[in-house]
Amino acid sequence: MKSLLITYHSQSGASAQLARAAWRGAQAEPEVGVTIRRVWDAGMADLLQADGLLLVAAENSGALSGAMKDFLDRTFYPCIDRDLILPYALLVSAGNDGRGAVRQAQRILSGYPFPAAAEPLILRGEVTTAHLQSSEELGQAFAAGLAMGIF
Ligand SMILES: Cc1cc2nc3c(=O)[nH]c(=O)nc-3n(C[C@H](O)[C@H](O)[C@H](O)COP(=O)(O)O)c2cc1C
Repeated sequence: MKSLLITYHSQSGASAQLARAAWRGAQAEPEVGVTIRRVWDAGMADLLQADGLLLVAAENSGALSGAMKDFLDRTFYPCIDRDLILPYALLVSAGNDGRGAVRQAQRILSGYPFPAAAEPLILRGEVTTAHLQSSEELGQAFAAGLAMGIF
């Protein structure tokens, strides 16, 4: 059975809602076990059990949220030491931009080096039903790809 790790950071709750929606979508794939963790609680033990990684965070001050950056800083060398390569997807909640967070995350993750399993998804403004739907679809597509061995 494949395993998808969804880890998120959220200050005001937007990314948390999107992460939960992605989790619901991924649950539709019975052959994939899905774990969701606040990024403060996530670490190497979670990555070592995962076959895919979905990162959900906000853009803060033109960059990836500090807590998500901290997660990547904490796990960078341990992943390299273990030759751990995981396909990843990125879901960014933003006020009106989000591109800075995506650029930064892509740059960092290319160093692991983790391959992208999907185009980054930026959702701007208040969380809407359409945002939740897109997040569910991303989670479902990622899980389905893992189950089929595409990634
Ligand atoms: C300190 C801070 C900085 C922010 N900087 C940006 C930014 O540079 N670009 C942007 O589009 N939104 C920015 N925002 C808005 C957040 O990205 C947006 O409200 C997001 O939905 C928050 O998600 P969260 O509740 O999961 O933390 C910022 C918000 C805060 C609190």
